[in-house]
Amino acid sequence: MPCGHLVLRAVHVALLLHELQAKPTTGFANVNVEIVGPQNERQESVVKAFLHAWNAYKASCWGEDQLRPISQTCNQEFGGLGVQIIDALDSLWLLGLHEDYYEAERWVLWNFSSDLDVSVSVFETVIRVLGGLLSAYGLSGQEQLLVHATQLGQRLLRAWREGPVPHELVNLKNGQTSFKEPELGSSLAEVGTIQSEFTLLSALTGDASFHVRGTQVMDLLGPILVEHGGLLPIMLKPQPPMHWTNERVTLGGRGDSFYEYLLKQWLISNRTEEKYKNWYQVSVNGIRRAFVGQSRPSNFTFVREVRTWESISQLVQSDRWLWDPDNLTTEESPGLAFFFQFHDAQIASNLSELGQEASSSSGSADAATGLSGQGSASEPSHGSPAWAYILMPSLSANTACVLMELLLSHRWAEASKMMTIVLPPPYHQLSANSQHRIDAMIGGQLQDLCWSREEFKMDHLSCFFPGVLALGVLTGAAAQPAEELRLAQDLTESCARMWLDSPRGLAPESVLWNRAPQRSRDFRATPKDTHCSLRPEAVESLWYLYLATGDRKYQDWGWAIFQAIEAFARLDSGGYSSIEDVTAETELLHRDEMQTFLLSETFKYLFLLFGDRQPLDLNKTVLNTEGHPLPVLGAWQQRIRGQMADAVSSCKRVGTRGCI
Ligand SMILES: *[C@@H]1O[C@H](CO)[C@@H](O)[C@H](O)[C@H]1NC(C)=O
Ligand SMILES: *[C@@H]1O[C@H](CO)[C@@H](O)[C@H](O)[C@H]1NC(C)=O
Ligand SMILES: *[C@@H]1O[C@H](CO)[C@@H](O)[C@H](O)[C@H]1NC(C)=O
Ligand SMILES: *[C@@H]1O[C@H](CO)[C@@H](O)[C@H](O)[C@H]1NC(C)=O
Ligand SMILES: *[C@@H]1O[C@H](CO)[C@@H](O)[C@H](O)[C@H]1NC(C)=O
Ligand SMILES: *[C@@H]1O[C@H](CO)[C@@H](O)[C@H](O)[C@H]1NC(C)=O
Repeated sequence: MPCGHLVLRAVHVALLLHELQAKPTTGFANVNVEIVGPQNERQESVVKAFLHAWNAYKASCWGEDQLRPISQTCNQEFGGLGVQIIDALDSLWLLGLHEDYYEAERWVLWNFSSDLDVSVSVFETVIRVLGGLLSAYGLSGQEQLLVHATQLGQRLLRAWREGPVPHELVNLKNGQTSFKEPELGSSLAEVGTIQSEFTLLSALTGDASFHVRGTQVMDLLGPILVEHGGLLPIMLKPQPPMHWTNERVTLGGRGDSFYEYLLKQWLISNRTEEKYKNWYQVSVNGIRRAFVGQSRPSNFTFVREVRTWESISQLVQSDRWLWDPDNLTTEESPGLAFFFQFHDAQIASNLSELGQEASSSSGSADAATGLSGQGSASEPSHGSPAWAYILMPSLSANTACVLMELLLSHRWAEASKMMTIVLPPPYHQLSANSQHRIDAMIGGQLQDLCWSREEFKMDHLSCFFPGVLALGVLTGAAAQPAEELRLAQDLTESCARMWLDSPRGLAPESVLWNRAPQRSRDFRATPKDTHCSLRPEAVESLWYLYLATGDRKYQDWGWAIFQAIEAFARLDSGGYSSIEDVTAETELLHRDEMQTFLLSETFKYLFLLFGDRQPLDLNKTVLNTEGHPLPVLGAWQQRIRGQMADAVSSCKRVGTRGCI
């Protein structure tokens, strides 16, 4: 029922808490209450899992930000706002856990305060706390939630200190702003993922300032986005004149939800703010041209990232394809020299003086190529060490991979034809033992060269993108619906593969997709990125793809992912933990953390995915980037629409500084 607008003006007055024993009601969020709660066995399993996590948090960390499930201790990762409670509110509601919902809501009504002397991330606080409060308000109609949201929003507004772009961190009490990395500034995702929440807050309160701040950021970035073919670098200094500080372009960390919110800002305006739809289409076009490739050998579709913006931005706009993954120039390395110290029993005993000479000249061989490996056989010394060089011509990545495979499979005769081996005279033979050592050493060096080419990193975070593509198709935003749905299906399959084809069925934080014909695996976990935080993006996309296609394979993939989480991340003592290294051959190690998005997103999307009928209608609801359903702006927005537009344009007249 659209009743929220009746009290808009009242929210500036602190409301008395007179409805604590409220019965389940619905606010204006258009949830189909008949479909709330589990409808089948898979959904019941998700509810049980959710409660296993929720009850552990409740028992040990009630009111704190996050549970550390192994030690059953807590952290205040987000400044102590009780983030886990607020992040879980609408999930509790949708999963049919109404008693738990009201218990959590009571905590918010009595104990939540944003008047804290802590520095918080504007972005995290908007998506988790503001989004959580607004979605819960939409579901329950409890007005005090909106009061809290408004007060929090007002404190966050102080992050706009100078110009249209917010600073990254703001102290909720005194308004001081700061940055985690001052030389880098704020990220694209941080400054471009507040607009849906702020616009809704303005619509609900009649106070246009939230909407104005969000819109100013977009009015600055939108034209740059269009000019550069739909892709923007990830880090910027907000101080005017705004400038980029890191030119990496990615749909993964620090870029991701900027692109997501281009579509969602159009959707929350009930598909009326056409500029956002245009910007969304420009971005999708740029991503399709510059980022999409197919892996080898199985032709899975992936999105890559690039290190420099300039390298792509001009080409994306031109008519030719910038990135034709079937015509990669095989960039050549400048050549390689390796020098070895031997303690080869067969030859070393003959080599006392020569060893010295070889040792001193090896330095220049190295310096000449600028690239080298250094080996030292570790056999116990039998006499003085000998030295040898192995020189290779410049190698393409493909050749490096071929040579690597020859060496690692000890096919020395073939491998030695591809390199020049210089041994101090009069010795021309290497013992089998030394050959094996060289195989391992150079093979390992070439592995880096081989793997650093024709491999393309993709964060699990990027897996939000196919879901957004499908949502764009479902809602009429897609410029080329058939092609975009096809791409969404292919990318979603790849994201599912990141889970299903990993040894334990758990996806690493990022993977490297292979393009080289020599390698037999389509992807591997990025070394140093092998942990799994039980992130939601893949199952989020599974849900959108299921809605867009009705294909039950998406439910089955989601079920397999859920089984892996149950098998490896569930702790008997309570809660779920992140996994340290999903590629480990021995027993998996747990990380002492349970991210709040497990409850706001991963389990929610799994629950929604397994439902045959959906409680949320995507014509009336937009899920924010933290999985919080926000109502599409309806009648009340139309009333204050003119007011908000006036505020934005008067700000433009005064100049950006005048608006702060
Ligand atoms: C609020 O916090 C106090 C302790 O500070 C606690 O005793 C009380 O139970 C909390 N209220 C709710 C509703 O959780
Ligand atoms: C992958 O695509 C290439 C060319 O695009 C084709 O030659 C090859 O057969 C495909 N492989 C599979 C497994 O579909
Ligand atoms: C690959 O690129 C080169 C240079 O850009 C071009 O001459 C060649 O025709 C391309 N080959 C294919 C198969 O597209
Ligand atoms: C070492 O020198 C002896 C003779 O001085 C020779 O017979 C032997 O073959 C040499 N060893 C190797 C590995 O060349
Ligand atoms: C949403 O609206 C579109 C038309 O804009 C309609 O085709 C579709 O069925 C609607 N979806 C739902 C769930 O009502
Ligand atoms: C959004 O617009 C459509 C079509 O103009 C209209 O039917 C619908 O009621 C609007 N949604 C809301 C929530 O007002």
